[in-house]
Amino acid sequence: MNLIIHSASQLITVAGDAPKRGAAQGELGIIENGAVAIRDETIAAVGATDEIRALATRDTQFLDARGCVVLPGFVDAHTHVVFAGDRANEFEMRLRGATYLELLKAGGGIMNTVRASRAAPLEQIISETRARLDRMLAYGTTTVEAKTGYGLDTATELKLLQAIARLDAEHAIDLVPTFIGAHAIPEEYKGRADEFVDLVVNEMLPAIKNAASEKPKVENVPVQSPIRHPNSEIFCDVFCDEGAFTLDQARRILERARALGFALKIHADEFANLGGAALAAELRAVSADHLMVTQRAEMKKMADANVIAVLLPGTTFGLGKTDFANGRAFVEENVPVALGSDMNPGTSWCESMPMVMAIATRYEKLTTAEAIVAATLNAAYASGVGDRVGSLQPGKLADVALTDVPDYRYLAYRYGTNPIRTVVKRGRIVAQDQALIADEIMRGGANV
Ligand code: NIG
Ligand code: FE
Repeated sequence: MNLIIHSASQLITVAGDAPKRGAAQGELGIIENGAVAIRDETIAAVGATDEIRALATRDTQFLDARGCVVLPGFVDAHTHVVFAGDRANEFEMRLRGATYLELLKAGGGIMNTVRASRAAPLEQIISETRARLDRMLAYGTTTVEAKTGYGLDTATELKLLQAIARLDAEHAIDLVPTFIGAHAIPEEYKGRADEFVDLVVNEMLPAIKNAASEKPKVENVPVQSPIRHPNSEIFCDVFCDEGAFTLDQARRILERARALGFALKIHADEFANLGGAALAAELRAVSADHLMVTQRAEMKKMADANVIAVLLPGTTFGLGKTDFANGRAFVEENVPVALGSDMNPGTSWCESMPMVMAIATRYEKLTTAEAIVAATLNAAYASGVGDRVGSLQPGKLADVALTDVPDYRYLAYRYGTNPIRTVVKRGRIVAQDQALIADEIMRGGANV
């Protein structure tokens, strides 16, 4: 045994072999005075401290978690973390009354970040994104779903996909790629949205599918194996909303993506209800995301089709709005709920899953236990990696967060400061007392 984390006041296992829904959404699987035994990058055993300590061998290192709540590293189920530049100027404009959709219609918004990301060399995008991933890791996030979508032309979409693959290989955080070529109508296609959809369907989807199975080229850095098998499907997402793509356009893209072997996601009901959540159910998407204005009848369809609701309360907050998704209703309707930060430069520059949980509990009416499940196991399933991460169970990657709080309720109750004391990723300590073990992060972690 390489590492034993022991004496946790509460070990939150979130054990389960499917997304949790309904009454099970809040099942944390708590072991008092719990411990985890880790061999290489994998969890070998989980249980009471006495039992687990008995598994120690001569070379075992111990990590004392007395006074700590220990839980699976957070999975951030929805991000646009890969981009160049910022939109601080638009934030200030919104504070003075401009709306997000007005800025988008005027050629700003997503298009501003598209211009910056097209112009930036790959290495610049990687280094700007790495700084964000470092901060996410310090806040306990160990797996991130990462979307393209700031290219909107084939070459730049491929560049962003390459950035995701490189960061997945190099950074301690595991990244799961999602292609969202239909994130906005690029200015060169203004008034010709259907022609842009043709480009996505005929050119981008096949090119992305091909590139997704290639191994990233990384020189001089030991590479961690991808969290998903290189040949497994990647996700395709579409922004189906007012000011973006219609329901018919979303359907065209997602049907073609499905035929090519992509798994499906959809941005639905963030501003206007165009029927995206029902489309997700019809096409058996893995998740529908945002869902701020979704109706009960659509929730029922999602439940029947096992579509996970990925809620993004940081976005509603980030937009300064109050029409939060009705998390309570999704739980009542038996839809598994996951959480994400939506980390992006326009609506939600948020790198903290504890902050996301703080908002989800207050405004989306999840209990703290439900929010924890949403930010771990359910987020892992929404990201297509529920069999590998998201809970503390033998056989899964040893991704563990040690938190400095007296009991799990403090993870949402207290907010604005970082509750994370230590982060273990794939069995290695990668952050301690809010400091990243910097030299080691890019090599896959420090020795304990
Ligand atoms: O999830 N809704 C579409 N995409 C993002 C915003 C992206 C941006 O503004 O840059 C979102 O809110
Ligand atoms: Fe988004």
